[in-house]
Amino acid sequence: MTTTTSNTGDGTVVPTHARYAHEYDRRLRVGLVGCGEQSLRNILPALRFCPVDLVAMADIIPERARKVGQSLGVERIFGTHTDLAESKEVDVILLATGYDTDGRALHARQAGDIVERGCHVWAEKPPASNAAEIVALANRAERSRRSLGFGFMKMFTPAMAQIHRILASQQFGAVTSVTLRDPEQLMDMSSRNDPQRLKWLLDHVVHSLSVLVSTAGRIERVIVERADNGAAAILLRFEAGAIGTLVLPWGQSGMAPKERLEIAGQGESLLLENTTRLTYYRAGALGRGAPAYGRVADMYTSFEEAPLLWDLQTYSGEPYNMHVFYQGYAPCLIAFFEAVMAGQPVRRAGLRDAHHIMEAYDAILRSTDGVPVDVSTGVDVKDC
Ligand SMILES: NC(=O)c1ccc[n+]([C@@H]2O[C@H](COP(=O)([O-])OP(=O)(O)OC[C@H]3O[C@@H](n4cnc5c(N)ncnc54)[C@H](O)[C@@H]3O)[C@@H](O)[C@H]2O)c1
Repeated sequence: MTTTTSNTGDGTVVPTHARYAHEYDRRLRVGLVGCGEQSLRNILPALRFCPVDLVAMADIIPERARKVGQSLGVERIFGTHTDLAESKEVDVILLATGYDTDGRALHARQAGDIVERGCHVWAEKPPASNAAEIVALANRAERSRRSLGFGFMKMFTPAMAQIHRILASQQFGAVTSVTLRDPEQLMDMSSRNDPQRLKWLLDHVVHSLSVLVSTAGRIERVIVERADNGAAAILLRFEAGAIGTLVLPWGQSGMAPKERLEIAGQGESLLLENTTRLTYYRAGALGRGAPAYGRVADMYTSFEEAPLLWDLQTYSGEPYNMHVFYQGYAPCLIAFFEAVMAGQPVRRAGLRDAHHIMEAYDAILRSTDGVPVDVSTGVDVKDC
């Protein structure tokens, strides 16, 4: 496989050419727990491009696992994640179970059960209901020496890989500000201890936080302003010095564009719309605020200064046109499996990222309007 290592310094391998599962010389034996919508729509299609043999499936409704398994030629069927982990038939277990009946995220608890039984784990988002659950998981994982990765696929989209390459260039300079919009709903204070009412926010805002962390680094503090309907503006200060906003325009039309990301460096900026449409505004006389202000009669600058625009070209039946690539599912899973096979810690979307994203989520929930809240709990969690 031709690969390029994105230059964020974390060594994560981002594929630029696709390979099918059977074309990899070395493959991991994988079992999937949770045969619901996410598995059918995104995980199973992405596995076709990963270095794996899918050999077992499990679901608390075994009949569902059996039917899905049958359609894919997978014969080994289990009811629970612990039964599958104890079977010794798989190296890695993928979790896409979601929530218990109280609305609490299952993945951290189940991942702990699995690593203690000797398998590596990749779990869908949300990784947990709060940061403390990730600390508990990290303690269990440390004793087991198994790898843990999470489904923050937005950190692995090809657009994000390109953003990482640009951010790493001297030309862009350090990130100074980042703005992200994503229509989620922040519940009022009276609902913030109710896992059922928080489910929607937890399910989605972790994606936004993963994008922010992936572009501007760890978040130092947040200040939240909330509208009565749950729309919110969250002001962010990043540890590396950048500032940012996460806007949740709850109440917008369901037909309106959802995600929009803007990053400013030092005289350059990036705009990502709709996951794939990336514009790179390079340094230029106009961009830097030319002293000739008021006399510029022609905005068409030289080719060297012109904005660069990339977007999906949907004519060809190429893997890049498949949502499992441009939405990041396949690259996220491939990076995890590559790390497991190399015996390397999972650096991007590993335990440390999951912990920090949950710290930021907890800080948003603690916030009352207009009051700054520190994000860090002072606990350092290590990737494995
Ligand atoms: N990254 C993404 O884009 C994305 C998109 C959708 C969903 N998800 C995540 O995937 C997870 C699953 O979502 P979904 O939409 O597939 O839900 P779902 O309810 O359709 O599927 C969950 C499946 O897990 C099974 N299950 C539940 N508890 C179990 C247990 N204890 N042991 C074994 N099986 C169990 C259920 O029977 C069901 O088949 C959620 O955490 C969700 O946030 C991620």
